[in-house]
Amino acid sequence: MESLGVLLLHPMNAYLEQELDRRFRLLRLWESPPDSRADFLRANASAIRAVVGNAGYNADAALIDALPSLEIVASFSVGIDRVDLAKCRERGIRVTNTPDVLTDDVADLAVGLAIAALRRIPQADRYVRAGLWKAKGDYTLTTRFSGKRVGILGLGRIGLAIAKRAEAFGCSISYHSRSEKPFPNYRFFTNVVDLAANCDVLVVACSLNAETHHIVSRKVMVALGPEGVLINIGRGAHVDEPELVSALLAKQLGAAGLDVFEHEPFAPEQLFGLDNVVLVPHIGSDTEETCMAMADLVLKNLEAHALNKPLLTPVI
Ligand code: DGY
Repeated sequence: MESLGVLLLHPMNAYLEQELDRRFRLLRLWESPPDSRADFLRANASAIRAVVGNAGYNADAALIDALPSLEIVASFSVGIDRVDLAKCRERGIRVTNTPDVLTDDVADLAVGLAIAALRRIPQADRYVRAGLWKAKGDYTLTTRFSGKRVGILGLGRIGLAIAKRAEAFGCSISYHSRSEKPFPNYRFFTNVVDLAANCDVLVVACSLNAETHHIVSRKVMVALGPEGVLINIGRGAHVDEPELVSALLAKQLGAAGLDVFEHEPFAPEQLFGLDNVVLVPHIGSDTEETCMAMADLVLKNLEAHALNKPLLTPVI
């Protein structure tokens, strides 16, 4: 097992790094400066049989091409849109991800962002810190989350967990999903614009692919409307960001709560000056508990691969 060379693409949680080091032959990509990475990869190409990346940077076409001995990509994420799956299929490279263990935390964050955006919690925090609070009741009135019409784009594991939480707040649920599975208590919309026109809070929870790229268009934002709130815990590229900035500025959309951005680790600067957005740095699964569970899944998948056993969470 020691002979499995694992390339870790970024510093991740300390436990994962330490255990990868202990159980395998670990190589850290970031330790070689960007301009000498190609040489580093060439020098270690025959040893690197596994890659561990995440939702930020993963095994893209260039990396896969540079690694002729690559056998497995174990992603520290549930979303594998940064892995070139077509190339992996072509080369017979196995891919694993970390589903289930992060579902609750991502769903919690979606509800948290919706409440933060509607109740203007970060803005209220800034108000207090700026010394603007002079008397009870002098801060602007906000809007409640309880009882709202919540629309969910993508009713997979995370979407369903968000629906369950929203139901506990007395919200009604509608959705658009590629899944054929019927959910009798929830209203299905074949069209995303219609879904947006029939909800107060639209949560993006689907996976990113060619069909869902920029699925939240200006039309969807306008349908959601000046009181509507857009929450994105999926991927930044689900939303047309320049249109989002423009819709928020034009007050065609009420507010947004965003965990993800199209060009991470950057969020569009035009959002920084807007008071009706809540921005967090892709932290959906970033709790101590979940990151430990994700790390264990990555480690177990790599061990299973090294021992030629079935993978725990295979994608392909
Ligand atoms: C993932 O793991 O794909 C998510 O982006 C976590 O937030």
